[in-house]
Amino acid sequence: ANTKNGGIPQSVSSTCMACHGMTGISPQGAMFPDLAGQWAPYIVKQLDNFRSHTRADPMAKAIMWGMAASLTPAQVQHVADYYSRQAPAKGKVVNPKLAAAGKKIYEGGISTTHVPACMACHGPTGLGDPPLFPRLAGQRQAYVVLQLNYFKKGLRTNDPHAIMRYVASRLSEAQITGLAAYVRSL
Ligand code: HEM
Ligand code: HEM
Repeated sequence: ANTKNGGIPQSVSSTCMACHGMTGISPQGAMFPDLAGQWAPYIVKQLDNFRSHTRADPMAKAIMWGMAASLTPAQVQHVADYYSRQAPAKGKVVNPKLAAAGKKIYEGGISTTHVPACMACHGPTGLGDPPLFPRLAGQRQAYVVLQLNYFKKGLRTNDPHAIMRYVASRLSEAQITGLAAYVRSL
């Protein structure tokens, strides 16, 4: 019933597209995440977390609490199904040196500081694993840096078993930058 414009959910065409794009590729990039190809159960969880204020980092509070508040559960599911079906952005190598440093950690972790390999949960090529583990492949670099810092500082606390807070608290700023560059390249 909430479908217009040939299957595009009404909330997407009227609201979400301004920041996440009509097909889930954010026109601005920066701190606005791509949603195209993201797993539907993860999108539903995030929207529920915004609605219940359990994802309470500064950008969530400033923007997404308001956006998610007016969605019905049926609209949440519809939007998640829609964005999950869109073709994700192609990976882009911005800085090969940074991306290479990130790849090492992504695939092998850091034994001296007990950082697990990201690929254990997010997959060898960043595709994620539903329902819990989000796709990271191609995600915007600045958004990934922002989220890893939110986890590191304990500002984003909706991660199950505090796993991302544990991981990010062990990463330096330089390591975060490398990981974000690598994830963007996938
Ligand atoms: C994050 C959906 C509208 C800006 C997110 C996320 C989802 C989402 C699922 C989490 C992504 C992830 O964890 O990877 C939606 C939907 C919208 C909508 C369904 C329409 C009802 C908007 C609009 C803006 C916006 C209009 C800009 C004014 C953002 C930002 C984040 C975000 C900045 C990151 C929040 C953070 O850092 O915690 N959105 N969004 N969104 N969205 Fe939206
Ligand atoms: C979420 C990166 C390791 C489990 C995320 C997000 C990022 C990220 C950027 C947020 C995605 C978004 O907002 O769209 C990384 C990196 C890792 C790593 C760079 C390695 C250094 C792991 C490991 C696990 C894991 C080892 C599992 C043991 C999760 C889960 C979420 C998540 C469950 C979703 C949290 C939620 O529901 O809000 N990760 N991750 N990650 N990661 Fe990781």
